[in-house]
Amino acid sequence: MALKYTKKVLEYFLHPKNMGEIEGADAEATEGSPACGDMVSVYLKVNPKTHVIEDIKFKSYGCASNIATASIITEMAKGKKLEEAKKIEWNAAADELGGLPSVKMHCSVLAAKTLMAAIRDYEQKHGLAKAGAEGETELTSENVMNELMGVINPDIGINIVRLKMVKNVEVDGKAGAVKVEISLGNTDEMFTENIKEEVEEHVKALKGVKKVEVSVSK
Ligand code: FES
Repeated sequence: MALKYTKKVLEYFLHPKNMGEIEGADAEATEGSPACGDMVSVYLKVNPKTHVIEDIKFKSYGCASNIATASIITEMAKGKKLEEAKKIEWNAAADELGGLPSVKMHCSVLAAKTLMAAIRDYEQKHGLAKAGAEGETELTSENVMNELMGVINPDIGINIVRLKMVKNVEVDGKAGAVKVEISLGNTDEMFTENIKEEVEEHVKALKGVKKVEVSVSK
């Protein structure tokens, strides 16, 4: 059965904006979709004084929905401060396109997740991330929670902190050990491993972390 795309999706798929790579980018990220295995890369040029995204490009190895969403999401982020760009969620991009077929929502989740990862890469490289900043040695549950805001539930497209999926965080600063308890709620169980891996990856990126334990329950 052929999928119905809006005129705008087709327009952005056939004539994508901001496609390509930025040479000497200030930050970049490549992420994959747990739902289909496709990948997308996002590159950023950021004004170091104002933290405004001055240029942004993407490369997609995904489908028409992904190319269209990545394209529109880069347009939405261009000219915005990092803090504002962080608030762009996949459903806002999908709405801008006039909607996507429900089986294709994960494609826009992938685009939003990659934009978020590129912003995080910039923050980490430039000492803007709360944890891991130059001179920052304290490993606290607050820092872990902040970091977990970068983990997007691929089934819903919203970060797991906002979805109240993080039930508990235990930090042993001296040992560099972190325990995170996640509750799946209504999330499809097929995403369990992906969420677990993402949580581990994000927490491990924090300064001083040596061991991460993630438990996931229903
Ligand atoms: Fe993989 Fe759309 S099906 S990104």
